[in-house]
Amino acid sequence: MTTPARTTSPALPLRLGVNIDHVATIRNARGGDHPDPVRAARIAAEAGADGITAHLREDRRHISDRDIRALARDIELPLNLEMAATEEMLAVALAHRPHAACIVPEKRRELTTEGGLDVVGGCDHLVPFVERLAAAGIRVSLFIDPDSAQIEAAADLGVPVVELHTGAYCEATGAACERELERIRYAAGLASTLGLECHAGHGLSFETVGKIAAIGEIRELNIGHFLVGEAIFCGLDSAVKRMRALMDKARAEATGRRTA
Ligand code: PXP
Repeated sequence: MTTPARTTSPALPLRLGVNIDHVATIRNARGGDHPDPVRAARIAAEAGADGITAHLREDRRHISDRDIRALARDIELPLNLEMAATEEMLAVALAHRPHAACIVPEKRRELTTEGGLDVVGGCDHLVPFVERLAAAGIRVSLFIDPDSAQIEAAADLGVPVVELHTGAYCEATGAACERELERIRYAAGLASTLGLECHAGHGLSFETVGKIAAIGEIRELNIGHFLVGEAIFCGLDSAVKRMRALMDKARAEATGRRTA
């Protein structure tokens, strides 16, 4: 598999979106107000996050409607709302007008978003959601597996952004890990060649972030579960700062290698 020719500079900055869903998971375990996702968003911003991501699920298992209202109103960083392509979620997005909306597949029984959207098979369903979000000035992204057909279908749909699912890479070991990484590299190159801004996320940790951050076409990483888990041991501020430093180091080293 040969990576398609680059159309963007490999030195473009890499943004960090901090997903605060699981702050709400912990709060909901007791049903009160603590810990507050808005406070977490502010700490993440101070620690170097470039954006805040939150997924309002149909079953409201973590983030609530009230959280989205508070995040949209009270935080200064751009808000990226992860949402299923349903009329209910579209109404929430149009009411709060986040900076971006990332359309994700959603299954009731899954523990987390298990795979990417089927843009190839679900194109007719997605079109009106993409059009109505875009008409409201919301930057639309599609969460997809690193698969050429899905990327081409996303480009045909006219969205500005795709987010590549890194879950399979993060879970793989040995040779499979290298294969998954190569799929992501190829997909990022293809997305960029087709004029799509490329984001990535799911399952990223201190250990797995470096190789993804080194891919020059990727412009943003969205990371949540690991950061909130790590915050238990070292604090959210310290977890975000360390993630930011690892991303920046990997990016700088890769850029140095490419320009040497
Ligand atoms: N990106 C998308 C589109 C997601 O759905 C999620 C999980 O909500 C993430 C990134 C973050 O994944 P994780 O919590 O595993 O870091």
